[in-house]
Amino acid sequence: DGEVYKYYSEGEWKKSSSGKSVAIINPTTRKTQYRVQACNQEEVNKVMEIAKSAQKLWAKTPLWKRAELLHKAAAILKEHKAPIAECLVKEIAKPAKDAVTEVVRSGDLVSYCAEEGVRILGEGKFLVSDSFPGNERTKYCLTSKIPLGVILAIPPFNYPVNLAVSKIAPALIAGNSIVLKPPTQGAVSALHMVHCFHLAGFPKGLISCVTGKGSEIGDFLTMHPGVDCISFTGGDTGIAISKKAGMIPLQMELGGKDACIVLEDADLDLVAANIIKGGFSYSGQRCTAVKVVLVMESVADSLVEKVKARVAKLTVGAPEDDSDITPVVTESSANFIEGLVMDAKEKGATFCQEYKREGNLIWPLLLDNVRPDMRIAWEEPFGPVLPVIRINSIEEGIHHCNASNFGLQGCVFTKDINKAILISDAMETGTVQINSAPARGPDHFPFQGIKDSGIGSQGVTNSINMMTKVKTTVINLP
Ligand code: G3H
Repeated sequence: DGEVYKYYSEGEWKKSSSGKSVAIINPTTRKTQYRVQACNQEEVNKVMEIAKSAQKLWAKTPLWKRAELLHKAAAILKEHKAPIAECLVKEIAKPAKDAVTEVVRSGDLVSYCAEEGVRILGEGKFLVSDSFPGNERTKYCLTSKIPLGVILAIPPFNYPVNLAVSKIAPALIAGNSIVLKPPTQGAVSALHMVHCFHLAGFPKGLISCVTGKGSEIGDFLTMHPGVDCISFTGGDTGIAISKKAGMIPLQMELGGKDACIVLEDADLDLVAANIIKGGFSYSGQRCTAVKVVLVMESVADSLVEKVKARVAKLTVGAPEDDSDITPVVTESSANFIEGLVMDAKEKGATFCQEYKREGNLIWPLLLDNVRPDMRIAWEEPFGPVLPVIRINSIEEGIHHCNASNFGLQGCVFTKDINKAILISDAMETGTVQINSAPARGPDHFPFQGIKDSGIGSQGVTNSINMMTKVKTTVINLP
């Protein structure tokens, strides 16, 4: 009917037989911006069935041809950066320039996957038996990497395009098929991205994209017997998925409470710049955002002053105007953030700015003198609100970092590389950045969380490897 975006199945754009749709609310206007199909379980069964048969043929398609198609999709994606970025602005209120960056980065990621896949999947191993005690040189073992089958990709709202292709491209180059379930906020951007893969000419059924309500198709998808691997990025839902999923490989990237440890000898201007970038870009709605600053008391006043001066310069407003701070994704998210702020207020945190909110738009806020009894010391706001905890020793900082149920990334600022390395070793997180804010990229770097922050490791190479399994053939000589 032209008003509801169609879903993608069997290489075609289709209306759901449910006759229902899901509304996507623009975070800025708080009005319905788009509608997508509310797919039902029958439609999920269909995409699973065709994903399985399409995968069998795809796995037999030469690796160089798979790479060629991915390069084509990457180029088309980049050509379509403007309309896709516009959707990101409207659906998730991503600042205009960041929205374009997300699409370009996605194109680069797809190309890199194609190149890396050709390199690593083009090689196998050859083993001989006589290295193991008791064996003669009578067995030759050949190994290669084969695809897993059907990969279920579930990206989050904050990177609906980039965190979709970071699952799709490794899956496809390795010979898998893809069933994509985009987040509701971000679904239309994801459908546009899928259209680029459609234009590139991938075989029918190899890529499907089903939209709809989690309550109707969420568990049905993640528990579906046709799924051979789940790659999920998001929040607590991931923990629930990991408990319900079958005996299949899981790749999960969940939340984080990335700490920024600041020592006395740190370059405080560099720290302040990184706290602004790390804590407030995309209004703090990144799993890798700086979510707590742990600063040595002796330099805390000076650092807080420097950060305050920079916060004052952040522009606040609409994503179309490329404002630094834009409305957070939903009203319930804004309410949650406000709850953390009010809790900190009651318990005596120092407000470096006045708390201000209009609709989903929350002005950037630095909270000083936060103590461990405040919720914001531990919970992730996923918004432009950053707590500062003053510490008296490095041990205190490490202790706070490691007491978190999360363990995604962290960062440490100091000019003493020996101390930095020791602190990095002591921090129980998947990555520690020395003298820079946490970040996932460059996208070929390994990216992983420990504890509640995830399962497995991502990054181009690790994702390709994770979406394959080893197959061996043993030649037995007389
Ligand atoms: O939100 C989670 C993303 O994986 C973070 O990616 O560090 O590039 O913003 P980013």
